[in-house]
Amino acid sequence: MSVYILGIESSCDDTSASVSKGNEILANIIASQDVHKKFGGVVPELASRAHQQNIIPVIDTALKEAKINKNQLSAIGFTRGPGLLGSLLVGTSFAKSFALGLGIPLIEVDHLQAHILAHFINNKNNIPPSFPFLCLTVSGGHTQIIRINDHFDMEILGRTIDDAAGEAFDKAAKIMGLPYPGGPSIDKLAKEGNPDAFSFPEPKVQGLDFSFSGLKTSFLYFLRDKLKVNKEFITENKADLCASIQSKIVSILIKKLKQAAVETSIKEIAIAGGVSANSLLRKSLLIAAKESGWTAHIPEISYSTDNAAMIAVTAYYKYLKNEFTDQKVTPYARANILK
Ligand code: KG4
Ligand code: ZN
Repeated sequence: MSVYILGIESSCDDTSASVSKGNEILANIIASQDVHKKFGGVVPELASRAHQQNIIPVIDTALKEAKINKNQLSAIGFTRGPGLLGSLLVGTSFAKSFALGLGIPLIEVDHLQAHILAHFINNKNNIPPSFPFLCLTVSGGHTQIIRINDHFDMEILGRTIDDAAGEAFDKAAKIMGLPYPGGPSIDKLAKEGNPDAFSFPEPKVQGLDFSFSGLKTSFLYFLRDKLKVNKEFITENKADLCASIQSKIVSILIKKLKQAAVETSIKEIAIAGGVSANSLLRKSLLIAAKESGWTAHIPEISYSTDNAAMIAVTAYYKYLKNEFTDQKVTPYARANILK
C-alpha cells in the first residue's frame, strides 16, 4: 500500500506544505513572506502571523495539486525545530490537530536533518548519495560539515564558531544596501562582476570549523574607508563587490570541504541548505569533484532553500521505522539533534 505523507515546514519565513508518495514528491507548495523585506530581515512576530494566515491555504493547495484526499494520508510530518519558536508553534499546532482529527501518526522532523535528507527525494535527475557521505549544510542559521553514516546517524565534523555562511551573505548585502535575503541578490549581481577585483582576509580557524564574522567586519571597514573618499563607491562597484565577497565565502567553504574529504577519505560529497542554491558554490563543487574524484550531490534549487518536500521525505523514512511522535510534543528553537 502506498504511504502518503503531508509535510509541513514553518521554521522561519516560508510556509510550506508538501505531499509525498513514498519518497516521491507529488506537491511542494511554498508561500514566502514579503512582509519582512522592508525591515531588512525576518521579524519574528510578523512571521508567526503570516504563517497563521498562510498555513491552511498552502496545505489545501498541496493536497489539491497532489490529487490526494486528506483521508488517504498515512501520517503528518512537521518541523519541530530549530527555528523561530512562534513560527514553529503554528506548524506544530496545526500538525498535531490534523493528525489527531484524521486518526493518523504524527512525525516530528529536525529541520537540519531534513535539509540533508532532501537528497533522498526520488528525482530522475539525481542519484541519492551512498553512505557514508559528507554534507556541507549551509543555511541562514547554520554552517556545518556533517558525516552521514545512515539516514538518522549523523555526526558533525565541523561548524561555524560565529556567523553562518548565509548570514555572511545577508550581512554583506545589508552593508551594501541590497534587499533581504541578501544571498540571492549577491548571487545575481556577482554574475556581472570580477571576483578578483577586491580581496578580503582568510579566516584562520582550526580543524574543520568555520568563521565568518571577521570577514563581515573587514568588508564593513573596507567599505567605510572607501566611502570616505568616494560616496558613490558601492554604487560604482556593486557587481565587483558582490563577486569578490561571494568568491571569498565560497572558497572558504570549499577549502574546508576538501580538507574534510581528505581527512575522512570519503568521496561522496553533498551540499544542502539555502546557500547551496548559490550558483558559484554549485559550480565550485563540481570543479572540486572533478579534481578530487568525488561524486557530487547538489539538490534542486527548490529543495535547497526552505521547503516542505524535505520534511515529507524525512518523515517517510521515520514512518518506515515506526518513529512516531506523542501529542504532547512542543517545538525546539535551538539545534537539538545536530548541535
Ligand atoms: O535554508 P534556508 O532557506 O533557511 C534557513 O534554514 O536558514 O537558508 C536561507 C539562507 C539565507 O541566508 C539566504 O541568503 C541564503 O540561504 N541563500 C543564498 C542563496 N539563496 C538563498 N545564499 C547565496 N546564494 C543564493 N543563491
Ligand atoms: Zn533551512
